[in-house]
This record gives sequence, C-alpha cells and structure tokens, in this order.
Amino acid sequence: MNTDAAPVVVTGANRNIGAHIANRLIDDGFSVIAVYRSETDDIAGLIERGAHVVQGEFADTASTRAIAARIRALAPRLRALIHNASAFAPTDDDIEAASDQFQAFFEVHMRAPYLLNTELADCLAGSREAPGDIIQITDIQADNPKPVYDVYCATKAGLQNLGLSFAKRLAPTIKVNMIQPGPISFQHWVDEAGREQTLAATPLQKTGTPETIYTALRSCMDNPFQTGAVIAVDGGLRLGN
Ligand SMILES: NC(=O)c1ccc[n+]([C@@H]2O[C@H](COP(=O)([O-])OP(=O)(O)OC[C@H]3O[C@@H](n4cnc5c(N)ncnc54)[C@H](OP(=O)(O)O)[C@@H]3O)[C@@H](O)[C@H]2O)c1
Repeated sequence: MNTDAAPVVVTGANRNIGAHIANRLIDDGFSVIAVYRSETDDIAGLIERGAHVVQGEFADTASTRAIAARIRALAPRLRALIHNASAFAPTDDDIEAASDQFQAFFEVHMRAPYLLNTELADCLAGSREAPGDIIQITDIQADNPKPVYDVYCATKAGLQNLGLSFAKRLAPTIKVNMIQPGPISFQHWVDEAGREQTLAATPLQKTGTPETIYTALRSCMDNPFQTGAVIAVDGGLRLGN
C-alpha cells in the first residue's frame, strides 16, 4: 500500500485503460488527479472514490498549459505523471483531412506530454533515492508502423523519442519510462477476421487487459533503477511470425 500523499496524474482517465489505471492506483492507496475531456460514468465513479479532476482538451499550447496550471494548483508535489490520452484512427485518404489528423495527433501525443513534462518537472522531482516518475504510454507500432496508421504511429514514435530526451534531462530526480501496449482492445472497425488475424500473429494468442498495462506501470514506478526503458506489453506480437 502506498504511503506517499503526493498524487499521480493520469491523462485520458475517463475511459478504458486510463480509467482502469486511475481506479487501480486508488485501490493501491495513491491519490489521483484524473485529467479528462468528456464526462463519462468512469469519471463520475473516480470523483466518488476521491479523485481530483481536471477537465480540458489538449488542443493547443494555451489549453494544455491551462491544464498544467490547474494540476499545479491542486498539488505542488506530484508522485507521477502518466501520459495515457491518445487519439487513434487510420490515416484519412483525403490529404486535407490527413493533415488535420496530423495536427490533432501531434497535440495529444507530442506537444501535450512535452508541455506537461516541462511545466510540472519541479512538482515531480523526488530525490536520487526516490525519484518521481513520468510514464508515457506509446504503442508497439511506434517501432514497427502499419502504413495505414502512419500518422498515429509517427506521432507515437515522436512521443517515445521525447521520452528518451526527458529521461536524460530529468535524471536523477525523475525517471521516464515508456510502455508499448499491443492489442488490449479492438476498435469497433476491426472485423472478426481482423481480430482472428491479430490473435494468430500473437505468440501468447490472446489480447491483453488494462490490468496488464497497470502491472507494467507499477513495475516502472516501483523500480528506482530504471529510466529510459521501453517496455512492450503485447503478448509477443512485435516478434512477428
Ligand atoms: N487499447 C489498445 O488496444 C491499445 C493498443 C496500443 C496502445 N494503446 C495505448 O494505450 C492508451 C490507452 O488506450 P485506450 O484504448 O484506453 O484509449 P481510448 O479508449 O481511445 O481513450 C483515449 C483517451 O484519450 C483522451 N483524449 C484523446 N484525445 C484527447 C485530447 N486531444 N485531449 C484530451 N484528451 C484526449 C480521450 O478522451 P475522450 O474520452 O474525451 O475522447 C480518452 O479519454 C493510449 O495511449 C493508446 O494509444 C492502446
């Protein structure tokens, strides 16, 4: 059970993996600041469980810096910052629409983590013995992109590369690690054949669960001698056949 009162910030905490991470942190005794865009039952549940919340959208520099300022106003000291918020879609065939996607994906995957890490570094700084944590959730496709998702993959790869810079820059008082999920859940547009194809290509022949991501996240937080690590949680899918 955690005894550190400094909260953990989780972005995109209003659904799916982000909501699971926030709830599991509360189960384990952490205080949580849940950052969210849309109102959901999950966010209502987190508020009932004592989470502090910050609503906003990573739309541009001003909106993201406003989110950072509200986090700082809630907690001058932070235990960890989890970058989970993400946008995912195949790249649009229309070049103008694809260009708009690039901007939106850049905002949430790259500029928002860059600004939050920079603005909140002094709140996150621990000691050499007990560093604070930044954990950036990327994707196994950051290393081996699917061309149909090139804009998503490129901006996730950018997030991963930024994480390596931050790991160097913020040491020794903050650790920065990356988690690369493989298939945890399927998007609604993936049909049965596509799901079977993915499972067949996955050595462990199953999808992951949000809890498998939480397990990896806690292993990063609990290990004082790990920074700049990129941890695949993908059932082996990246290995190929
Ligand atoms: N699920 C998988 O199989 C899988 C596989 C590989 C990687 N991952 C990674 O794991 C993480 C969690 O995945 P997930 O499936 O739980 O994601 P998800 O269901 O798509 O949720 C994404 C979250 O990010 C928020 N978000 C998106 N754009 C935002 C913006 N511009 N400003 C503020 N919030 C924004 C969403 O808010 P709204 O609810 O308001 O839209 C939502 O809370 C993501 O980083 C994802 O890339 C997941």
